[in-house]
Amino acid sequence: MIEEAARLIARSRFAIAFTGAGISAESGVPTFRGSGGLWRQYRAEELATPEAFRRNPRLVWEFYRWRMNLIRKAKPNRAHYALAELEKMGVLKAVITQNVDDLHREAGTENLIELHGNIFRVRCPSCGYGEDLKKSGRLEEFLAGKSLPRCPDCGSLLRPDVVWFGEALPEDAMNRAFGLAERADVCLVIGTSGVVYPAAYIPRIVKESRGIVIEINTGESGITPVADIFLRGRAGEVMERLVRMIRRLVK
Ligand code: APR
Ligand code: ZN
Repeated sequence: MIEEAARLIARSRFAIAFTGAGISAESGVPTFRGSGGLWRQYRAEELATPEAFRRNPRLVWEFYRWRMNLIRKAKPNRAHYALAELEKMGVLKAVITQNVDDLHREAGTENLIELHGNIFRVRCPSCGYGEDLKKSGRLEEFLAGKSLPRCPDCGSLLRPDVVWFGEALPEDAMNRAFGLAERADVCLVIGTSGVVYPAAYIPRIVKESRGIVIEINTGESGITPVADIFLRGRAGEVMERLVRMIRRLVK
């Protein structure tokens, strides 16, 4: 199956990748629903909804500062680097991710669509002010802070620039992602449970446009029923083997 997957990707006209928390598991970033997953330990409705933020912004910021601290220490793994390499080879046209951990960017992926935002960005719901704390160099000071972060322009409470449950996806990102899915003849789906919509429509849109879905996961997921090829295994190991085969095929 992995040889067949390598052939399909190497010969593809417009291949894309769609990723979830499982691709970052080997980087030490907890997933959401797997064993030890965040939503197994914590109640999402108390930490990742606009209502929770209105009710108790201090608790929500404590949770996000904890996650930011954990994720900033994480490094991209072989799967992230393999996707960046496939893009440089011209084989992969884009990566659509549900992850907010910035690891695809750190691995060198250029055409990246973050459907659920980025945990190192903050924004002001009142005046629209936005800041990438990595780019502004204020991440350390921000994480060291105990007080609630305020907007430098209008003084309102800043929030993490991520998509919470019950919120719409950023329109531009969603339209770009759906457009890519319609064009794709191959979609590599890596490490997602495929149960969160509208993101989980991506592989289905590829199928409806007669594209091929290749899934990599340690177990079956909500995507497996629509996958043409299912490669069971850890993303880092499988992607390393896959990219080695593709290198030989495109030489
Ligand atoms: N390699 C490949 N797959 C893995 C690995 C690994 N090393 N480890 C775990 N997985 C798989 C699990 O089997 C599971 O199917 O990754 C998937 C992770 O699923 P979730 O934890 O549900 O994460 P995800 O699908 O990204 O969640 C979607 O839900 O909580 C919201 O906004 C959040 O973006 C997130 C969305
Ligand atoms: Zn503001």
